[in-house]
Amino acid sequence: MKKKIHKLVVENIVSGYGDMDILKGVSINISQEEIVVIIGPNGAGKSTLMKSIFGLIPIKEGNIYFDEEEITNLDTQSIVKKGISYVPQVKNIFPNLTVQENLEMGAYLRKDNYLETMNDVFKLYPDLVEKRNQIAGQLSGGQQQMVAIGRALMIQPEFILLDEPTAGLSPKMYNDTFESIQKIKTLGVGVIMVEQNAKRALQISDRGCVLVSGENKLTASGQSLLMNENITNLFLGGNE
Ligand SMILES: Nc1ncnc2c1ncn2[C@@H]1O[C@H](COP(=O)(O)OP(=O)(O)O)[C@@H](O)[C@H]1O
Ligand SMILES: [Mg+2]
Repeated sequence: MKKKIHKLVVENIVSGYGDMDILKGVSINISQEEIVVIIGPNGAGKSTLMKSIFGLIPIKEGNIYFDEEEITNLDTQSIVKKGISYVPQVKNIFPNLTVQENLEMGAYLRKDNYLETMNDVFKLYPDLVEKRNQIAGQLSGGQQQMVAIGRALMIQPEFILLDEPTAGLSPKMYNDTFESIQKIKTLGVGVIMVEQNAKRALQISDRGCVLVSGENKLTASGQSLLMNENITNLFLGGNE
């Protein structure tokens, strides 16, 4: 039997901090086995969008659906149980725990045996195998990012939200990270990713969303955004 392909739909959400609205009606949708990249200038609300989807800040208007079910303003634990995982931009590992303990923390909501999933994470990130008993905070930045993504994979998510997974990494490390993200997609996971390395990210994405001042400026295929001169001039400086 073919597995159901889940969909996540964000419709016109308004959210922010206290009285201040940062997102002013943002929409985005994704299916499993897709990579959707969110690009836009600093302060556009990209991280706020991720936090809103994950139930970390209240949504004042608009709706979020997981398939046909509304999940707007569900608590984060219930959102995780639906199969949505999140890797924040910063503070995304337990620095005083070992690599393996970090992965175990990622599985805390699972009642079944997660060892197979841990092996899958080690297959995705073989560099972590020999580091499994090392304190995560002592690893390189790239390896810490692997731990963070690996931890988020431990619930076997249907969707994973990645906030700037390549920030601060060397070119070699960000290439490895992008490759691993493509593998995660082929495992059947939908990836929503905020990225500063916008060109590289759009090359591997099915769709890109340009977010400016808390509004959708443009949503299109990765390829067509790469060919859009306005977008390249405005947002696609930097690498490559
Ligand atoms: N915890 C917070 N409290 C108040 N304002 C915040 C908080 N986090 C972010 N902001 C503000 O929200 C806006 C969008 O931030 P953010 O979503 O982090 O942007 P981006 O990720 O696109 O750079 C910025 O003006 C930022 O100063
Ligand atoms: Mg951000």
